[in-house]
Amino acid sequence: MIAVVVGTRPEIIKMAPVVLKLEEEGLDYTFIHTGQHYDYEMSKIFIEELGLPEPHYSFQLKGETPGEQIGEMIIQLDKVAQKRKPKVVAVQGDTNSMVAAAIAALKVGADVAHVEAGLRSYDWRMPEEHNRRMIDHVSKYLFAPTEEAKRNLEEEHVYGEIFVTGNTIIDALDRYLPLAEEKASQIEVPFDEFAIVTFHRAENVDNPFTLRDFVTILERSPIPLVYPIHPRTERRLKEFGLWERVKNIKHLYLMKPLGYLEFLGLLKRAKIVLSDSGGLQEEVTHPKIRKHILVLRTSTERPEAVKAGFAHVVGTNPVVVLATLERLLEENPPLPERSPFGDGRAAERIVKVLKEAS
Ligand code: UD1
Ligand code: UDP
Repeated sequence: MIAVVVGTRPEIIKMAPVVLKLEEEGLDYTFIHTGQHYDYEMSKIFIEELGLPEPHYSFQLKGETPGEQIGEMIIQLDKVAQKRKPKVVAVQGDTNSMVAAAIAALKVGADVAHVEAGLRSYDWRMPEEHNRRMIDHVSKYLFAPTEEAKRNLEEEHVYGEIFVTGNTIIDALDRYLPLAEEKASQIEVPFDEFAIVTFHRAENVDNPFTLRDFVTILERSPIPLVYPIHPRTERRLKEFGLWERVKNIKHLYLMKPLGYLEFLGLLKRAKIVLSDSGGLQEEVTHPKIRKHILVLRTSTERPEAVKAGFAHVVGTNPVVVLATLERLLEENPPLPERSPFGDGRAAERIVKVLKEAS
């Protein structure tokens, strides 16, 4: 039996092609949501919109700190694993939910299969870097999205077997973009031409000085902005007394976190992207999207997007970000036709291995 664990927005999106393939093949699997993300618009909306089955198990976490949450998730996942006895547990990416799932799996003697293995930012400030390193080193099956990711794993002499599969986000875009395009015209934003913004990374928004710089970037942007705000960021803006400044920006359209179809629809319409998201650095490379992204971070674990010309790692200094934004808007440098993150058949390759492993 295969267990598939998700817990946050990007995992639901990136595991969707895998879950749907498991369904299609009629394989025995258990779908588990850890409850790390719990608001409707951060969790359930994706299950519904992406046509996924209801998770067989989902938890409500009581803890607030990462340590408390990881502990609680391990306890809950252990209970499910004792009952369902998975042979292999599939995890995706680098969140706290995934590190909990990997530990829980090991402790019941299941094999860990890591989707999106081998990413490295070499930035030890990021909790995601700790998590992905831990998961990679205890996985038996490592699904590296690219040859670069495979090289990172080989350099670290990981224990498990490496498969280069592409990233399932490309599969997801192939599947959902047509639906998103239908929906796009229904979403009203007050600008014809705009940049889309997202920002939520702990190392950015938990630092009041970095968050203030971000607000300055928003205030001085030469292009109107559409900004679906992550709950973590809203909370910090209020806590650090920056919320009123954001609300007063006339050229900024603030929205709740969006469902995937709505978000993709807007992404397709946007002129350019400003974000610290991991997934967005991949999505902009899809042949049907092809946009420049200013990565509001000082590091990235997606160098493939930088090399191909899509991603520009600009940090959060307003002078640097705004100068780069102006230049890219003026020059709009051409972008490649192909994505460095795969051909849309990652889930097929992953499920083939999971099937044999289970
Ligand atoms: C987590 C991941 C991050 C990923 C992101 C995707 C870790 C270490 N971080 O960050 O890698 O990029 O998810 O979006 O696992 N909150 C709500 N409602 C929700 C979810 C969160 O209000 O549904 C608020 C809560 O105040 C919570 C805070 O956001 O304390 C942070 O949530 P958390 O899941 O810890 O981390 P993210 O910043 O979402
Ligand atoms: N996304 C979404 N609605 C939003 C913002 C983002 O559906 O309002 C999608 C986005 O298209 C991408 C994923 O969420 O697929 C990225 O999630 P996030 O940036 O939260 O996490 P990260 O990728 O940085 O881990």
